[in-house]
Amino acid sequence: MLRKNIRELRQNGITKIAFKRLNDPKVIPLWFGEGDLGTPEYIRQAAKDALDRNDTYYGHTRGKPELRKAISQYLHNLYNVSIDDTRITIPGSAMLSVTMACQMTLDPNSHAIVITPHWPNIDRAISVTGASFDYLRLKQKDGKWSLDLEAVKKIIRPNTRALYINSPSNPTGWVMKKHQQKELLEICRARNITIIADEVYHRMIYDANVAPSFLEVARPTDSVIVINSFSKTYAMTGWRIGWMVTPESLEEQMATISECFNTSAPSFIQSAAITALEKGEETISSLKKRYHTGREIVMQVLGNHPLIELSSPQGAFYAFPRIKGLRSSLEFTQSLLEKENVGVAPGYTFGPTNDDYFRLCFAQSQERLGKALERIVRHVENYSQI
Ligand SMILES: Cc1ncc(COP(=O)(O)O)c(C=O)c1O
Repeated sequence: MLRKNIRELRQNGITKIAFKRLNDPKVIPLWFGEGDLGTPEYIRQAAKDALDRNDTYYGHTRGKPELRKAISQYLHNLYNVSIDDTRITIPGSAMLSVTMACQMTLDPNSHAIVITPHWPNIDRAISVTGASFDYLRLKQKDGKWSLDLEAVKKIIRPNTRALYINSPSNPTGWVMKKHQQKELLEICRARNITIIADEVYHRMIYDANVAPSFLEVARPTDSVIVINSFSKTYAMTGWRIGWMVTPESLEEQMATISECFNTSAPSFIQSAAITALEKGEETISSLKKRYHTGREIVMQVLGNHPLIELSSPQGAFYAFPRIKGLRSSLEFTQSLLEKENVGVAPGYTFGPTNDDYFRLCFAQSQERLGKALERIVRHVENYSQI
């Protein structure tokens, strides 16, 4: 029944590990990209209020005009750019936006580039289109990750139509600099390649208020799709809502394509999202403080360990340590779960040549994180297969 591209899809390594012990109270779960704090009360209340006034009908297929305006205002406040709300679509989650961006730009004759180590869902979203793709790996040197733009030029093919880049990055914490965004944009502009910029961790940056965005460097006519989400910024992962900014003059097409996916995000959730944008700055500051502490603890424990190599993440809320000499990240993470009841994600799922890495999310209380790190270190030291 299934067509080839769907049949060949493989479960990602995060769920492969996590589904076995999901919700097991003995496990300290650091495998998913979310913290241990739920959504703030004022956002939950806004959703309840919306339900009580029967905010439960179909709406505009690109999303509520009031929410699109609020997003436009938010982007203006953050980056001092003017993004007309006709360029904004609210399809549902960022995952859905990524799927739409791939469907909009790729077909079986085209080719895509994925900057890696990367969030594993992107290669599945591309595979479904039938397009081929190559990975381009960030370099890791002297405790820092970096992107080699000359290598990008070399990997481009005549049929390359899209390049996926995520900054701040899951899993490395790498943050792209503005001058590199400009240079990459020039490279892609000259070759008619769409940049799919995944900026869902834009507020999770440790030395600034917000990470550099392609919205600051792209013209409204540039072939750039910027994807963002409420999931990480406001601790709203289960709500499945985010937005995408597309080039100008595509609004009719975006309304039509959105109809084929979820016909926009649920109505009452969009109302709560307006509240998040209007009242959420204090939440963002306190979440950031918490993640900052988490990062410090991880760096203290794992960053100084002789068996571990770890670049300090500049953004997002993950650590991506390499265990020197490790041969199988899947075996390591499975045995960590079995023996020490700590759930982390195996490195192999974040792209090729990561089988000596694992990823953990440090958006946790100091106490839980400290306990988990103690067990991880013990396991690394006792692990016989390195
Ligand atoms: C880089 C990246 N993009 C997108 C997403 C998905 O965001 P959403 O919850 O809005 O689907 C994630 C989730 O982990 C992510 O890490």
